[in-house]
Amino acid sequence: MSDSTIRHFLDLEKQQTETLKEILATAHSIKDARKTSRMTNILQDKVVALVFDKPSTRTRVSFDVGVRELGGMPMMLTGAEMQLGRGESIPDTARVLSRFIDAIMIRILDHHAVEELAEYATVPVINGLTYYSHPCQIMADIMTYEEHRGSLNGKTVTWVGDYNNVLTSWLHAAEHFDFTMRIAVPEELMTDFSVIDRLRSRGVRIEMCDRAEDAADQSDLIITDTWVSMGDEDAEHRHNLLKPYQVNDRLMGLAHDDALFMHCLPAHRGEEVTDDVMDGPQSVVFDEAENRLHAQKGIMAWCFHQANSDIK
Ligand code: CP
Ligand code: NVA
Repeated sequence: MSDSTIRHFLDLEKQQTETLKEILATAHSIKDARKTSRMTNILQDKVVALVFDKPSTRTRVSFDVGVRELGGMPMMLTGAEMQLGRGESIPDTARVLSRFIDAIMIRILDHHAVEELAEYATVPVINGLTYYSHPCQIMADIMTYEEHRGSLNGKTVTWVGDYNNVLTSWLHAAEHFDFTMRIAVPEELMTDFSVIDRLRSRGVRIEMCDRAEDAADQSDLIITDTWVSMGDEDAEHRHNLLKPYQVNDRLMGLAHDDALFMHCLPAHRGEEVTDDVMDGPQSVVFDEAENRLHAQKGIMAWCFHQANSDIK
């Protein structure tokens, strides 16, 4: 059963604010040190399983490279190749992997599966995206904002588009980093208010807007994501609902002059975002992608009790 001394990274909501800040400080420090040397020995002799039940470019490559550069050994596994794909239970998979492996990063749509894996594993488990949340992405995004504009404290962050896993982790982040989260999501796609209600009850500032234009007004950061996430089926209907929520130059023009644009990628250019915005001066999408590497090194260092801002 779960051991509270094992450091899992499952959701920003479950973490202490100080932990997230420590991880980010480590990430900035590791990124800086990498200009001189790519290699560290933080994960020396450790094997990290990278389990993918769904496609990935950024998460897959950044974790693989990250583990290697920390001196560890990545082991890439896909759900379909494992007995997991033939029905072996999550608890048994957790128990078996824990006998061989030092940490597990997993991408699987079923969020409960990740929580169950962490409950039964005796090694750290990292959430590499579920249908519910994507915490590693938002750590990289916050790191990116800090690099370009400093602290998010007191800022207004706008989400325009679908209600999905990336938004859920941004909502969680608002509690730790003390910014106002403003969202414009079509009413029909707002199927679950439980996260918003819970966070609001703890004083988190979340504003709901009917129109994308109202959400973008005087904002410091505009974020969107694909209109059809992995696991979504009603693509055509979603496209029709989400057309008014495209991020384009007109929408960016309503935000502060120094507002940034973020997208976790992969983007569907011409749908949720135009080329002009993606390739424009306010876009930091490729910095976000790069920072997956550095932020996840910070997360892994923390999982192995190695995080601190002086790390090199
Ligand atoms: N942003 C992100 O998680 O990208 P991948 O799906 O390519 O891993
Ligand atoms: N919301 C997207 C994120 C992909 C990184 C999805 O779940 O497909």
